[in-house]
Amino acid sequence: MSKVLILNGPNLNLLGKREPEIYGQTTLQDLQKTLSATAPINMQLEFFQSNHEGIMIDRIHNLLDDPLSGIVINPGAWTHTSIALRDALAAIKTPFVEVHISNVHGREAFRHHSYFSDLALAVIAGCGYAGYGFALETLHKHFKDS
Ligand code: DQA
Repeated sequence: MSKVLILNGPNLNLLGKREPEIYGQTTLQDLQKTLSATAPINMQLEFFQSNHEGIMIDRIHNLLDDPLSGIVINPGAWTHTSIALRDALAAIKTPFVEVHISNVHGREAFRHHSYFSDLALAVIAGCGYAGYGFALETLHKHFKDS
């Protein structure tokens, strides 16, 4: 059994209400329900969302004492700003997939740079909510191959 933590950063608690023309109508709760129902076989999911950078970093540090197999992270705006969150992920060495609901490369220039992509196993952007499912499949294949 593999265990995967799905992390969502700031403002992603507002999915469904926030800029629906970009992020769609589905809420974070709906997304979590769908992912739990469709996760690859033998994969257990845990979900965590925070609007507070230090709280997210502490959750990642906890993995040193209580490790799991992989992470899916949508860092939200921290993607483009947070060296601290990058360093936390680099410290724990758990394989992670970076997900963006929107195609960040087709948006404002400040969204084109990510502090995470070079450390990530894979990066998925612009596939909407399906990107989280693709990230789980990517991790599943990675666990099987390694
Ligand atoms: C996002 C893209 C980021 O630029 C933005 O700040 C978000 C969401 C996405 O999922 O498309 O909050 O990560």
